[in-house]
Amino acid sequence: MALLEVKNLVKKFDDKDVLKGINVELSEGQSKVVMGGSGCGKSTMLRCLNLLIQPTSGEIIFKGEDITRPGVDVRKLRQDIGFVFQHFALYRHLTVQDNVTLGLRKLKKMSAKDAAEKALYELERVDMVEHRHKYPAQLSGGQKQRVAIVRALAMDPAVLFLDEPTSALDPQMTREVVTVINKLFMDNITMLCVTHDPFLAKYISDSIVFLDKGVVVAEDIAERLFYDHPDPRVRQFFLSVIDHR
Ligand SMILES: Nc1ncnc2c1ncn2[C@@H]1O[C@H](COP(=O)(O)OP(=O)(O)O)[C@@H](O)[C@H]1O
Ligand SMILES: [Mg+2]
Repeated sequence: MALLEVKNLVKKFDDKDVLKGINVELSEGQSKVVMGGSGCGKSTMLRCLNLLIQPTSGEIIFKGEDITRPGVDVRKLRQDIGFVFQHFALYRHLTVQDNVTLGLRKLKKMSAKDAAEKALYELERVDMVEHRHKYPAQLSGGQKQRVAIVRALAMDPAVLFLDEPTSALDPQMTREVVTVINKLFMDNITMLCVTHDPFLAKYISDSIVFLDKGVVVAEDIAERLFYDHPDPRVRQFFLSVIDHR
């Protein structure tokens, strides 16, 4: 059974149809990337899936339960879905280590000592232990994003969502973050990642879901999606984002 199964997901804002019946499945240990032109509904989809916004209709089966039904424990759900944003969203007044331990202490009720130990273990994974006493303002964009990823992972979520995790970064910092996410991919962390970047998409995904105007028009591995895809909407998009020289 899939960990996450999205069936016919529709989202309207007033009378504007943004998602027009999305179907996606994600199994435990699987990593999928969502691509598609600006404004096609990628962020809206992720935000529906953890109920940051309310879907208009459709089913979202997460761990066997339809989370669009009334009475769902949203707090518990959000603990099970880690979320990494384009602009890091770190707490500016907290050190790297305290950014990571906050959720562990407040939500998971860990002792300060256990939380600190867990934070060190997680920071080690992204090579940030030596920076643990710094504040976000003292870090590069790539380092901030690595901390944001670790902060989400430390909560041991069932799945990690990432929305354009490298879009705010220069090429050097992007490589740094791609390396880290690729490591998670190799460790079979379950992920759903929205990106424009074909380089990131290719190195962190089992398959890529291509959205156009609120529907999934293709799902395939990078090699088959990027080059000479039969669907003209897919071809057009990748001609514009991939350097074909
Ligand atoms: N809260 C909102 N209210 C009204 N329209 C919205 C809202 N959020 C997103 N939209 C619209 O939905 C469409 C898809 O947005 P989004 O999911 O952010 O696209 P993407 O992430 O693929 O670039 C856009 O046209 C956007 O303007
Ligand atoms: Mg977006």
